[in-house]
Amino acid sequence: MKFDILTLFPEMFGALEHSIIKRARDAKKIEINYVNFRDYTKDKHRRVDDSPYGGGAGLVLTAQPIVDCVEAIDPKRMARRIFLTPAAPVLTQARVRELAKHEHLILLCGHYEGVDQRAIDLCIDECISIGEYVLTGGEIPAMALVDAIARHVGGVIKAESVDNESFSVEGRHEHPQYTRPREFRGLGVPEILLNGNHAEIKKWRA
Ligand code: ADE
Repeated sequence: MKFDILTLFPEMFGALEHSIIKRARDAKKIEINYVNFRDYTKDKHRRVDDSPYGGGAGLVLTAQPIVDCVEAIDPKRMARRIFLTPAAPVLTQARVRELAKHEHLILLCGHYEGVDQRAIDLCIDECISIGEYVLTGGEIPAMALVDAIARHVGGVIKAESVDNESFSVEGRHEHPQYTRPREFRGLGVPEILLNGNHAEIKKWRA
């Protein structure tokens, strides 16, 4: 599965260079590319933002570099194109599972006060928020989305872990976990987990 992340700040994506996501990339189970859409601006000063029509604080990302960039990396419109924005439906585990079925995702990270609506109208399929709070840009939301989707790509993590966690998200609470030592600061481990009766343990965990 391929992710193309359109961002003005590719250096922010260090979180995707470690642990499970790094291993998945090394094993070619997922591919992640960062595309700085500033490279597509036709502005002679390399600007990608401007003040909003109608006035108001802050700057708005202009449509041209974004649209040209998306069209350059997906000329046949094969990819699912997503814009990360707080003004959108909030991501759910069910949506993550659906998105994981796509071969190619393009994630557009906004910044400043927003993106010219024509960029969204011309080249975005879906807007996604990762929660009802406002971050300074779409980079952290894009990392969260890649991480959540990558878990569902075959072989990235054990199938059992994917299934277990999807249950817990859909209403069943995940049970508490314990590991060694058997006693820590005076606190023990529930006896049932120690007796090897797997039927009983399953009931306890449900
Ligand atoms: N950009 C800024 N805040 C965001 C959020 N909560 N979700 C997605 N993109 C965002």
